[in-house]
Amino acid sequence: MDLSNLLDPRLLIVTGKGGVGKSSVAAALAVAAARSGRRTCLVEVEGRQTFSRLFSTPAWSFSETEFRPGLFGLSVDPEASLREYLDMFYGARRVARFVSHNSAVEFATAAAPGIKDVLLIGKVKEMERRRRPDGHFTYDLVVLDAPPTGRIVNFLRAPDATTELVSVGPIRQQAQSLVDLLLDPARTAVTLVTLLEEMPVTETAESAAALRELGVAVGPVLVNRVLDERIGDAEAKALAEMGAPDLRELLAAADLPVDDAAAQALLEAGDGHLRRVDLQRRMRGELSRRVALPTLELPYVWADRFGDAEVGRLADVVETALGDA
Ligand SMILES: Nc1ncnc2c1ncn2[C@@H]1O[C@H](COP(=O)(O)OP(=O)(O)O)[C@@H](O)[C@H]1O
Ligand SMILES: [Mg+2]
Repeated sequence: MDLSNLLDPRLLIVTGKGGVGKSSVAAALAVAAARSGRRTCLVEVEGRQTFSRLFSTPAWSFSETEFRPGLFGLSVDPEASLREYLDMFYGARRVARFVSHNSAVEFATAAAPGIKDVLLIGKVKEMERRRRPDGHFTYDLVVLDAPPTGRIVNFLRAPDATTELVSVGPIRQQAQSLVDLLLDPARTAVTLVTLLEEMPVTETAESAAALRELGVAVGPVLVNRVLDERIGDAEAKALAEMGAPDLRELLAAADLPVDDAAAQALLEAGDGHLRRVDLQRRMRGELSRRVALPTLELPYVWADRFGDAEVGRLADVVETALGDA
């Protein structure tokens, strides 16, 4: 799979180590997909309202809303899915007659620990399969902001685990159809988001291997928060040899008088930037050695508040990459 196929699966599962920017990147992919004319649905699974905050929209709910032209949003709450499921198969009245909804949820979760994930993926599958009256799929692309990498393999194994636990009945059938969805490369791909830092790169390599072993198609790696390399090698060398008094003298000659403390702070800022850029280069090498997948680098976008405009900037980069690939 190369970069040009990034948005081709019908279900794109976006994951990575916590805090690397999964949600931001999932949002950018969904925006880029909608811009390309794909009817797209962006899904959050833990009811955190990450996206309604990011896009400054009213709160998202368990029913899809079109928050931008061609771009829909859904917030899946596992408890709500489980209730919907129990109602569907066992009838709301029957369930309510014996137990309150809450204890029904507790009971079902205790009986089959994987069931919540089955229901989450089940909801996504329903959306992926849904068709309009004219026969076309309702969505060209569903982008799932999935749990962090640490949980993703279990999340993907959940249907299997449940298949073993619940060996008969509707849940078993449902679980098997989800395994089919996740293992079909024409329908599903997992995209890992990473940073050019030690831990995320290591985790990305391990996740890619684990996912492949499960038989899941792993798409391009999205490398987030990449710094511009604004200082060339020659300047870096000169900077390394420079002391605060030298810089102070240079700046004074350019009509920019600073004191020693300010000159020292400038040198330290430059040094910090160079160290981070150096780490980036080493980690870029490490990533390409350890993960044989195409990568797309997304820039660090400076903002007081990361919102619509910043997501748009990341989407620009995705769009350009799809066009160039
Ligand atoms: N490309 C980027 N440039 C700058 N900040 C970013 C970028 N991507 C994400 N962030 C910031 O990093 C933090 C974590 O991003 P988020 O998408 O919430 O990560 P995750 O979903 O992996 O926990 C947020 O504060 C977000 O605004
Ligand atoms: Mg998130």
